Amino acid sequence: MKVANRVHHFTESVIREMTRLAARHGAINLGQGMPDFPAPEIIQEAACQAIRDGYNQYAITWGAPALRQAIAKKVESFNRIPCDPEKNITVCCGATECMISTMLALVNPGDEVIIFQPFYENYGPDAIISGAKPVFIPLQPPHWNFDPDQLKAAFNHNTKALILNTPNNPTGKVFTYDELSLIARLCIEHDVYVFSDEIYEHIIYTNTPHISIASLPNMSERTVTISGLSKTFSVTGWRLGYCVATAEITNAIRKTHDFLTVGAPHPLQMAAAAALSLPESYYQQLQRDYLHRKNIFLPYLKNSGLTVYEPEGAYYVMTDISPLGWNDDTAFVKKMIETIGVSAVPGSSFYAPKEIGKTMVRFMFAKRDETLHAAGERLAHLKSLKPD
Ligand SMILES: Cc1ncc(COP(=O)(O)O)c(C=O)c1O
Repeated sequence: MKVANRVHHFTESVIREMTRLAARHGAINLGQGMPDFPAPEIIQEAACQAIRDGYNQYAITWGAPALRQAIAKKVESFNRIPCDPEKNITVCCGATECMISTMLALVNPGDEVIIFQPFYENYGPDAIISGAKPVFIPLQPPHWNFDPDQLKAAFNHNTKALILNTPNNPTGKVFTYDELSLIARLCIEHDVYVFSDEIYEHIIYTNTPHISIASLPNMSERTVTISGLSKTFSVTGWRLGYCVATAEITNAIRKTHDFLTVGAPHPLQMAAAAALSLPESYYQQLQRDYLHRKNIFLPYLKNSGLTVYEPEGAYYVMTDISPLGWNDDTAFVKKMIETIGVSAVPGSSFYAPKEIGKTMVRFMFAKRDETLHAAGERLAHLKSLKPD
């Protein structure tokens, strides 16, 4: 018996491999993107209450009404996208399922999908599962800019969609209004969808507010805006995300979502509705907390001898290991786990072909102060880490 061909193209997630290695060596895990601090008490309580209140059976496939209403309100005010909870929203099991449900709903095998790289590692398998051909456009350090001519040249009659992720994982790049306008113009000109993953929309370190590409003129009709609860409310294990799109696109996404997972956990959807009703001060505090974590962690990294690319948003920081005499990211991370007890993600996980990211390593800093200080003190030993 043989397994399916598509699985042969999947490599095991390096992030999870490093997480296992980190656990074996008792290393501080600055790899996988999950916080080590608790979700807000009030939403934990809302989840428990929802279970006690009997929200324990399937919700409506595309989302409990209370949650869709809360999402519509947030999307209209924060993202500035018109949104009818009955027609424009699909609640999924995380932004992860949003993206694959969207790809399966809108992309045909053989269609080309433009992806900026480095990219969040799930977009690669998403392309394989949906049969799409990924076309990668480089974001160049230190500011992770793309070449407008290269982007223009990537569009052709096979291009079906462009995947955007702002604020960006792994680079921390926040796309500017001008960059978004150029992307929008090209997508309109070539009749291309945008799948816009905005899961880090509330974690930005610059003074510019988050911009949803769907809020640009004539873009809401061709954009699927994806976000979720994982990062904003520190509940990565709840698996709650949502897609916002036109009624026609939403109809298609609801079908793939239904057949993939039926629905997201009902009691947690009720708690998510409560989370989305938190006041503006919650989001201001979230920004302050993340800025505080970045300000703790980055000086340690900068002193460690790595080249540090300062993020504008999200909770990751890309570094270059070449100043320390290394040119193999995976060997570097393994050695760092085994000898100094800190884990991170080899940069090659975010590139295709992987070799492009061979001198990059991504650290994440969604951690308690004491975890960041402990990791930072260990990172002081990086300069003595030598290749075998
Ligand atoms: C860019 C990006 N999108 C989506 C996800 C996953 O989100 P969710 O937990 O909602 O599936 C992550 C998680 O790291 C991410 O970095």
